[in-house]
Amino acid sequence: MATNGDKTASSDEFWLFGYGSLIWKPPPHFDQRIPGWVNGYVRRFWQPRPPRHTRSPRARRHPDRALVLGQPGGRARLRPGQGVGVAYRIEADRVAEVKDYLDIREINGYTIHYTPFHPADGSAGPIRTLVYIGTPDNDQFTGPQDPQALAEHIYRSEGPSGLNRDYLLSLEKALDGLSPESGDTHITDLSNRVREIQASDAKGPAHTEPASHEFRKVSSIDEQEETEKPQ
Ligand code: BEZ
Repeated sequence: MATNGDKTASSDEFWLFGYGSLIWKPPPHFDQRIPGWVNGYVRRFWQPRPPRHTRSPRARRHPDRALVLGQPGGRARLRPGQGVGVAYRIEADRVAEVKDYLDIREINGYTIHYTPFHPADGSAGPIRTLVYIGTPDNDQFTGPQDPQALAEHIYRSEGPSGLNRDYLLSLEKALDGLSPESGDTHITDLSNRVREIQASDAKGPAHTEPASHEFRKVSSIDEQEETEKPQ
């Protein structure tokens, strides 16, 4: 059973940082779960999932966009909430099993980093955590994109675990539930855009022109500005 009790980390412990579905779908065999943050990363839908990972016809036509933690370019400004997530301590005799589980669950195309994690309540830390990040070395990696085109893509796509929009909205809810300051402006902005698309869709086809343009890569700073000033 997980506890938030003893938070002292020794060097042979294995801690995992979750910033996506791991927030609300914990890994097996953890004995501590601590909300907090890591510095220097942004949470983005920057990684298309190869369609071969699913049998669903819709997912093959509209492969979903996987979430990654990315490292922004030199000019990008980090905002509160961007590195917020949850650290899990894995039971010592189950570490190999959990690493295998994670490899099966989501690790395609991710790179492993170890980074300091800061518990939100300040009671311990920093704790060395393993984090799966996305890097430009990965062929799939898209980098920053136009937020409206991305929201439209997320609205229409599906992955092995279901609709991409359900994932996004679950993530928004899970982040809001972590702490009063844990909301991520980028995730909130994308969720608002997806809700608007859904509302237009409900009104009928005339209101739902699919994005006619290809994804346009934008610089990190452009994306920050667009996500902070939704129209
Ligand atoms: C997560 O849900 O935090 C997660 C994201 C990418 C890879 C592994 C875990």
